[in-house]
Amino acid sequence: MSSLTPLSQLHFLYNKPHILPHFTSSFFLTRFHVSETITRGASVSMKGVVVVSEMIVEKPKKRYAGESKGFVEEMRFVAMKLHTKDQAKEGEKEVKEPEETTVAKWEPNFDGYLKFLIDSKLVYDTLEKIVQEPHYPSYAEFRKTGLERCASLEKDLQWFKEQGHVIPEPSSPGVAYAQYLTELSQKDPQAFICHFYNIYFAHSAGGRMIGKKVAEKILNKKELEFYKWDGDLSKLLQNVRDKLNKVAEEWSREEKNHCLEETEKSFKLSGEILRLILT
Ligand code: HEM
Repeated sequence: MSSLTPLSQLHFLYNKPHILPHFTSSFFLTRFHVSETITRGASVSMKGVVVVSEMIVEKPKKRYAGESKGFVEEMRFVAMKLHTKDQAKEGEKEVKEPEETTVAKWEPNFDGYLKFLIDSKLVYDTLEKIVQEPHYPSYAEFRKTGLERCASLEKDLQWFKEQGHVIPEPSSPGVAYAQYLTELSQKDPQAFICHFYNIYFAHSAGGRMIGKKVAEKILNKKELEFYKWDGDLSKLLQNVRDKLNKVAEEWSREEKNHCLEETEKSFKLSGEILRLILT
């Protein structure tokens, strides 16, 4: 009758490959690295015959782009592909909408830009309110990150008023996005976090580029508060990346994938607000 030897003894056998009659040490090493489950399933009979039937059944674990650096890198990878080449060099999407063309060639419209700022303020108000009164405890991590834009947009709109401009109510792209975010935040935390990430990080990257170009063309280079942060922006962003990574550590692979799948919707809704600048 043959008995099974515990796994710890496999390490001993690995150091003495001559005891393994049917397999070379390189075979053993390769299989040994494939996954944890393999090592659990492996055993050796007293006669020195390695039982390998369980060793080769499991597929290698699927890797996701950016996964090794943390979940934010995964979100970034998906987001960058959804840009057009005109927007960012990592972009892969073809240009279909006016805001997807090269910003340097935009012909921004003054009233449209004001609408963009008003709708953006509604979206940031909504995000900041959601994290202040969090429906899910994890949202509370994202209070006072230093990335908040509501107060700075308030100052900018005040400046426009002082210049004699009327500040209209938010328009439909902003109202629709704010409503969507509120609903999502109460029922789908993974999808909500996707929007949270994309909105704040897009503004710190492409958003700043847009602000600079638009100011050159229609604001006499006036630098709005919307594009200024207190402190070192790269540190603020890194702090939020760390928090996002920490929150996502609690998620299953399915929940992470669900979050990534929401990126397209985030581009669609933000794109509709950006488009106001060109209308
Ligand atoms: C005209 C529109 C846009 C332009 C010109 C633009 C441009 C850019 C550029 C140049 C980068 C930096 C790439 C790099 O790190 O090398 C970037 C990053 C990014 N963009 Fe956009 N983008 C636009 C719209 C959007 C939209 C609508 C979203 C989603 C709502 C978005 C989400 C992001 C994200 C998440 C990043 C990564 C930021 C980071 O890693 O810190 N972008 N974008």
